[in-house]
Amino acid sequence: MKYNLQVLSASPDGWIEAVMNDFDAFLISHADGERKVSAFALGLVAKYPTFTKMVPTLIEIGVEELEHFQQVYGLMHERGLSLPQKIEKDLYMVELTKQCRHGRMDRLMDRLIIGSLVEIRALERFKLVGDHLEDPDLKRFYKILWASEVKHGTAYVDLAMLYFPEKEVLERAQWFFEYEAELIGRVPIRPALH
Ligand SMILES: [Fe+2]
Ligand SMILES: [Fe+2]
Repeated sequence: MKYNLQVLSASPDGWIEAVMNDFDAFLISHADGERKVSAFALGLVAKYPTFTKMVPTLIEIGVEELEHFQQVYGLMHERGLSLPQKIEKDLYMVELTKQCRHGRMDRLMDRLIIGSLVEIRALERFKLVGDHLEDPDLKRFYKILWASEVKHGTAYVDLAMLYFPEKEVLERAQWFFEYEAELIGRVPIRPALH
């Protein structure tokens, strides 16, 4: 089925300003975000091991995100940055996760939709970062990253459609995207992925 998923509100104006004012902090949060999305994909494999139609795609995403983690960590390392002992709580992810329903199958659908949603918001933000950076190498890095993230945006929703009626998935996705559009405007602005 052809469908189009986009964030329903732009990031608040202050966000890119906060990132440009403390790019090191953003880089650390970005690296951590890549590690977490890798763990998210592989976590789904661990939770739903018998859903064998989705496992190969999830492993592939897990590996790609881990490669992104390696690359962003490399950028951090070049700048003399290390990951902090404790990363501040990501209120955005906490609030999104809270909206997941509880039954095993309902939760699977919601998790997969959140997977796409988080990727699609990240695409919007990586584009902003790429457009605003002045350093040509970093700029190129974010443009290439953007291109390699594009397919993740629909990958999770496509997986959901293997197990649930498309109409149900798209209706629930619409609900999540509307919720997120409001959420992104109310979480505190910080030099972080969220
Ligand atoms: Fe990534
Ligand atoms: Fe991704």
